[in-house]
Amino acid sequence: MFSTPLYLAQDIITPEILQQVKDLNYIDDIKQYNGACTESQTVLEDIPELRAIVEKHLNFFVHGELSVDMQHRLRHTCSWATRHLNGDSAHNHSHAHSVYSGVIYIQCNDNSGRLSFHNDTNHPTYISPVFMPKLNEMTVLNSSEWTIQPKNGLIALFPSTCVHSVESNKSHEHRYSVAFNYWLDGSYGDFTNLLTL
Ligand SMILES: [Fe+2]
Repeated sequence: MFSTPLYLAQDIITPEILQQVKDLNYIDDIKQYNGACTESQTVLEDIPELRAIVEKHLNFFVHGELSVDMQHRLRHTCSWATRHLNGDSAHNHSHAHSVYSGVIYIQCNDNSGRLSFHNDTNHPTYISPVFMPKLNEMTVLNSSEWTIQPKNGLIALFPSTCVHSVESNKSHEHRYSVAFNYWLDGSYGDFTNLLTL
């Protein structure tokens, strides 16, 4: 009941996409993340081949899996690449001013940091969040955290409110990923509660 959807799929990152992501201009993102973030906040517009991959999956997730009517259209609002060196990580965060978000892995290995999703601690699931009984087994019913081992080309899509984090990069290879935010345009409701975006 009342689940939080997480979409995971594997796609192909061509050597050309990898090179274009590496060639972007990176700056230290001291505001939120450890690691470096691109100056460009329109990376998917800068790399149309990557945008096509992301939007193929995002449209399937939102209109196919989630059954959101096609009168609502997904609109790219911003996208950025992240470069994590050895020791870099990303703390728990969600994406503001966005409806659906995601990340696609451009270059990573088994030691460059796993991606975790966390239940909002105020959101009760199998028990009131003030109780934490000893659990003999972690299952789909009782877990409050899900951890994914990224591979090159893995794409993860989720509601922007979903809290997530990235472990520190324990390898000496640079880890590259591209994250993105999308809005959902269209008309919501009718008469006195009509909202058109
Ligand atoms: Fe994020």
